[in-house]
Amino acid sequence: MTIERHDHIAVVSIDHPPVNAGTAKQRGALLDAITTVGAWPDLSGVVVTTAGKHFYAGSDLKEFDGPLAEPQLPSVIAAVEALDVPVVAALRGLALGGGLEFALGCDARVATPEVQLGFPEVGFGIVPGAGGTVRSARLIGVEAAFDLVTTGRRVTASEACSLGLVDEIVAESALLERAITLAGSLGEKRRLVEIGAETPFPGRDELLGRLPRRHRPNVRLGGELVISGIALSASEALTAERERFDELRVSDESNSLRYLFFARQSAAKALRSRAATTPIKRVGVIGAGTMGAGLAQLFADKGYETVVVDGHPDALARITDDAILTSTALDVCADCDLVIEAVYEDMQVKHDLLRELEGLVRPDAILATNTSYLDINEMATALSDPSRFGGLHFFNPPQRNKLVEVIPGAATSEQTRAALGELATALGKIAVPSGIGDGFIGNRVYADYRTQAEFLVEDGASPAEVDRAMELFGMAMGPFSVADMSGLDIAWSRRKRLASSRDPRLRYVSIADRLCETGRLGKKAGAGWYAYPEGARRGVEDPTVVDLIDRCRAEAGVTPRSIDVSEIQRRLHGAMVAGAAAVLDSGVAERTGDIDLALTEGFAFPRHLGGPVKAFSRMTEDDQLSALAAVYCSDPIAYTALADSSRGEMPPLVQRLLNGLAK
Ligand code: NAI
Repeated sequence: MTIERHDHIAVVSIDHPPVNAGTAKQRGALLDAITTVGAWPDLSGVVVTTAGKHFYAGSDLKEFDGPLAEPQLPSVIAAVEALDVPVVAALRGLALGGGLEFALGCDARVATPEVQLGFPEVGFGIVPGAGGTVRSARLIGVEAAFDLVTTGRRVTASEACSLGLVDEIVAESALLERAITLAGSLGEKRRLVEIGAETPFPGRDELLGRLPRRHRPNVRLGGELVISGIALSASEALTAERERFDELRVSDESNSLRYLFFARQSAAKALRSRAATTPIKRVGVIGAGTMGAGLAQLFADKGYETVVVDGHPDALARITDDAILTSTALDVCADCDLVIEAVYEDMQVKHDLLRELEGLVRPDAILATNTSYLDINEMATALSDPSRFGGLHFFNPPQRNKLVEVIPGAATSEQTRAALGELATALGKIAVPSGIGDGFIGNRVYADYRTQAEFLVEDGASPAEVDRAMELFGMAMGPFSVADMSGLDIAWSRRKRLASSRDPRLRYVSIADRLCETGRLGKKAGAGWYAYPEGARRGVEDPTVVDLIDRCRAEAGVTPRSIDVSEIQRRLHGAMVAGAAAVLDSGVAERTGDIDLALTEGFAFPRHLGGPVKAFSRMTEDDQLSALAAVYCSDPIAYTALADSSRGEMPPLVQRLLNGLAK
C-alpha cells in the first residue's frame, strides 16, 4: 500500500500483486491507509487506486475455509464511508467481488475503458458479503443489481457507465489526474448507505421468475437479498447479507466450488511450460463428422483461419460458415500451423492419414489427434518425427463442452505439449493433462459408471429407475438418457473391437448390443433405451425394451430384484470412484483434482458436489466402504482391487485417491 499527497488529496494505491486480491494483509493495510490519511488535518479528498494492472480482483479463496481474519471487508468499507471527505475509486483491470464492493463504498468511481466489473460470488456458491447487494441496488436499481448478482457476469466499462455503476470512463493516461480532480470537486459525500429505505420492490416474483430453470439456492438468495434489501434500512440489509454470506461460505457447496477452482489452477500450472511455442494462426481439421464439423466451427469462431478436409463431399456440406475453407484434398493443410484429425476411430485410417499429412505440412507444424480411445504412442509410429504429435481430446459438442484432455505421447516434445496446452486455453477450454490409457481420464471413469448402470439393469432396475435416481443425485441426465442422446453406436463398435481380447471371466451385459442389433441406436434413430414418439421431449419407456431386458436377464441366469434409489446412487457413485482410483493408480491422471475436473466439466457431474471423489470424501467411512463393496460384488474380477472393502477395510488405491484431496 502506498500513500501519496497531491495537495489536499491523498492517493492510496493498493499494492498486492498479482491481482490485489483481498487477503487479511491487504485489508489491514487498506484500513491503516484510510485511517492514516483520515487524520490529515488539511485533507479534502481521497483517491483509492491500484499500483498494478488490476484494481482488486476478488478475495483469496484459501481464507474461506476457516474463520475470516480481521479486519474484515465490511469494516474497511465502513471506514471509507466514515471519512468526512469524498473518496473516489480509480479503477483499472479487474474490480470483482470484494473489489467491486469496496468501490461501491466510495463516493464516486472512474474507470479506464478496459475495466471489467462483476460479482463472481454466485459461481463460488456464496453471495456478496460486504454490501454488494445492498449498495448496487441503491446505485443502479434493483433490476440491474439483481442481474449482476445472480448471473455473476462481468460488465465492460461502457455498460458499467450506462448502468451508472461507474461515473466516468477515462483513458489510462488521465485516470489518476481525473480521479484527483473529482475527489477535490465532489464537495460532499455520496454515501449509498444513506439512501433511505424505500417501499418494497413491486416486481419481486417477476424478477425471481427470470432465474434459470435449474439454479442453485445461493443464486436465488443473492437475488432475494437485492430485492428485500431495498425496503430495509441499510444497516439491517447489510447485516442480513453478511449473515447469508457467512452461512454459505462454510457450506459444502461453496467448499466444492472453491476446490474445483483450485483444481483448475493446478491443472493449468501443470500444463504451463517455458518452452517457446510458435504462434498458431491457421488450423486444419481433418474429418467433418460429428466432431470435425464442431471443431472447425470452434476454431473459426475463435478467430483462427480454418480449413476442413473430408473425403466425403456430403460431410463438408454441413459446414455452413463461409469463413471456413472446405476441401476434399489434404494439400490445403500445407501451410497450417496445426492440423488436428477427427477421422474414423480406426488405427489404420489414422496411420495412413498421419503419414500423408507429414509429407505435406511444414516441418514445424504440429499434428494432433482427437481420438477417444486409441493408443497415441502406437499412432505416433506412423510419423518420422513423432515429437511434433500429441493428443488433444475434445468432447461432444466441442463448441460447448469445456473439457479438453491434453495427452502427450512418449515422444512428444516439450514444445508440442506446451503448444497443445496453450491452444486449449486460447480456445477458452479447461485443459486437463492426461497420460495414455484406455479412454484417458474422462471416458475411462464414465465407462465404469455406464457399465455399472447396465449391471443395475441386469440386476433388476429399469433404465428409467436408474436415470431418475441419478437425476435425483444431481446429474442433469441419467446414464441411459445420455447414451440415447449421444448414440449407442460408438460404444458398440468399441465393444466389438475389444471383444476378442476381453477376459471371459468379466461380467458382460449384452442388453446394449441387442438394442444396437435391432437398430435402436439412440435418439437419432428414433429408438434406443427409450422410445421417442413424435413430439416427445424425452424418451418414454418401451415395452419392447422391457421384454428384451427380461430375456437378457433370463439368459444371464439373473433373477431380477427390486433395487432402491439409494443402492443405485451408491453403486454408480462408487463405480466412478473405482474408475478414478484406477486412473490415478495407473498414472493416467496425475492428480485427484484432474479427475474431478474432467468429470464436472466434461460429463456434467454436478459442480456443487465438487466431482465424484470430492463428493465421496464427504461420506462417512462406513458409507464409503459399503459403496465400494457393492461395486466389488457387482463384478469381483473387474474390481479385484476393491476386495478389501468387502472386509471393511479401505482399499489402498482408493485411500491414495482420497489423500490426493488433502493437498
Ligand atoms: P464421424 O464418423 O462422425 O466422422 C468422421 C469423418 O471423417 C467422416 O465425415 C469421414 O468422411 C471423415 N474421414 C474418414 N477418413 C478420412 C480421411 N482419411 N480423410 C478425410 N476424411 C476422412 O466421427 P466422429 O464421431 O466425429 O469421431 C471422429 C474422431 O473423434 C474419432 O477419433 C472419435 O473417437 C473422436 N471423438 C468422437 C467424439 C464423439 O462424441 N463423437 C468425442 C470425442 C472424440
